Amino acid sequence: MDKKPRELQLAEPLVMTMLMTPDMANFSGNVHGGSILRMLDQVAYACATHYSHHYAVTLSVDQVKFKQPVKVGELVTFYAQVNYVGRSTMEVGIKAIAEDIHSRETRHTNSCYFTMVAVGSDGRPVEIPKLLLDSPTTKARYVAAKLRRQLRKEHDSTMQAIDLKWTEQLDTLSEQEIEDALNAEMDK
Ligand SMILES: CC(C)(COP(=O)(O)OP(=O)(O)OC[C@H]1O[C@@H](n2cnc3c(N)ncnc32)[C@H](O)[C@@H]1OP(=O)(O)O)[C@@H](O)C(=O)NCCC(=O)NCCS
Repeated sequence: MDKKPRELQLAEPLVMTMLMTPDMANFSGNVHGGSILRMLDQVAYACATHYSHHYAVTLSVDQVKFKQPVKVGELVTFYAQVNYVGRSTMEVGIKAIAEDIHSRETRHTNSCYFTMVAVGSDGRPVEIPKLLLDSPTTKARYVAAKLRRQLRKEHDSTMQAIDLKWTEQLDTLSEQEIEDALNAEMDK
C-alpha cells in the first residue's frame, strides 16, 4: 500500500521572556545554573510541542556552557527554533539573552541544542510533519543540525566505548595496562 507523503510545515520561532527572581539565586547571588536549565527545557518543550502538535519529551541536551553569569533582577529572553526534523525527533536551538532592566544592556549568556521526541498518548514516538525549508537561513540551520546529529552519534559511540573499557570491563585490565594508560594520559 502506498504511504501517504508527510506534510510539510514551517518552523515558527518561539520567544519567551522571564524575569530572574530571588528564588532562582545560588549562594553567590547569581541565578542558579539548574534554574536556567529548567527554563531552557520548558522553552524546548513549548517550541517542539508547538511545531509537532504532539506532546514532546526531552531525549538529550548538548553541552550547555554558561558564558556569563545571569543576575537576579535581569530579564532573560529565550529565542527558540526547530532547526531539524527527523521522523519523530526535532532539534531545537535556543539562544538566551540577558538584559539589565535599568541600563537596557544585553548579553548573550548561552546557546544550546535540545533533541526532543514527539510522542503519542502511549508514550511512543510518532511521525511529525517534515520541515519546510523556505530560506537560505532555514536551509543553513538544517545542514548544521544534520552535522550535529552525526557528531552526536559519533560522540555517543566513543562515550560507550570508554565506559565499556574503563568501567564495565575494568576487571579485564591488568594493573600494568592501567598504569601505562595513566602515564600516557599524564604526558599529554
Ligand atoms: C524518547 C523516547 C520515547 C524514544 O524511544 P525509543 O524507543 O528510543 O524510540 P525510537 O527507537 O523509535 O527512536 C525515536 C527517535 O529517537 C531517536 N533516538 C532514540 N535514541 C537515540 C539516541 N540515543 N541518540 C540519538 N537519537 C536517538 C531515533 O533516532 C528516532 O529518531 P527519528 O524518529 O527522528 O528517526 C524514549 O527514549 C523515552 O521515553 N525517553 C524518556 C524521555 C523523557 O522522559 N525525558 C525527560 C527526562 S526525565
